[in-house]
Amino acid sequence: MTEVLERNRRVIAVANVKGGVGKTSITANLAAELAAGGYKVLAVDLDPQGNLRNILGYRDSDIDDAGEGLLRSVTSGDELHPAKNVRERLDVVAGGIRSKDLQRELQRAAMDGGDVTTKLATSLAQISHRYDIVLLDTPPSPGMLQTSALVAARYVIIPVEADEDSLDGVETMAGEIRAVRSRNPLISPLGVVRFRMRQQATRAQAEIAEGITELLGEGVAFDTIVRDAHSVARIGKSQGKIARELGTNPPSAAGVAADYHHLSREVLTVIQANEEQLAQKEAQA
Ligand SMILES: Nc1ncnc2c1ncn2[C@@H]1O[C@H](COP(=O)(O)OP(=O)(O)OP(=O)(O)O)[C@@H](O)[C@H]1O
Ligand SMILES: [Mg+2]
Repeated sequence: MTEVLERNRRVIAVANVKGGVGKTSITANLAAELAAGGYKVLAVDLDPQGNLRNILGYRDSDIDDAGEGLLRSVTSGDELHPAKNVRERLDVVAGGIRSKDLQRELQRAAMDGGDVTTKLATSLAQISHRYDIVLLDTPPSPGMLQTSALVAARYVIIPVEADEDSLDGVETMAGEIRAVRSRNPLISPLGVVRFRMRQQATRAQAEIAEGITELLGEGVAFDTIVRDAHSVARIGKSQGKIARELGTNPPSAAGVAADYHHLSREVLTVIQANEEQLAQKEAQA
């Protein structure tokens, strides 16, 4: 497992036990933004809803195997074959209804004994070294797929929305991260993204940041806030485009694209700092 975790050192799970908080939007936009910035990126859709294909625009295309390739790789160890260049430098492992079967298979195997939550990590480790960054979009409900994602990931991005129980999700995620530490000792929260927040709501923004610091520590709330822009999301999904590809239609798309650009810089900075720290520790050991 040590070798698997080493190979997966640039795998980021985008996760929250709460639904509709921006996991898929962040995965798609961040993946495409990083790819546009020159990084080789893999996005993996672990959600049976398969919503990533709506934003990245490959629903019902040849690429859209509804999670069949993922199911086969995780259950039988076949190599994953991501769809190449969904955008320049961005490959995708599609998800969808077959991931329900995957979840069931994993549950059944777990009842027969043995730790099955490392299977996804092992599958990804076959190919993760080919990418600068691997992003995992995860389902909202706790279960085998979400746990498998946390076992496979070095980092977790936790999106939150500004509602009264947004911090409950963060607290639960902190617990989920602690719970997988025995299998994945290197996992850490990369940062919390405040999602779909009105720019004027500075007080709510600050309160959530404070709550995040209390729960997860200093510096874990990303500065970036993904602004509320319903029309950008709606048009993006209908056209299969991320925010930066919408240009100025609607006009608010440029602002949302700028938010994701800013987020991608923050993500790279935190990863770099982590890797430098680790290298220093190793040099001292
Ligand atoms: N900037 C934005 N402003 C307003 N709404 C947005 C924005 N970006 C995305 N949305 C919409 O918010 C909703 C939730 O986003 P998204 O699907 O990314 O969340 P999720 O956490 O992946 O949801 P699920 O838990 O169902 O997988 C979607 O309908 C999406 O189109
Ligand atoms: Mg989603």
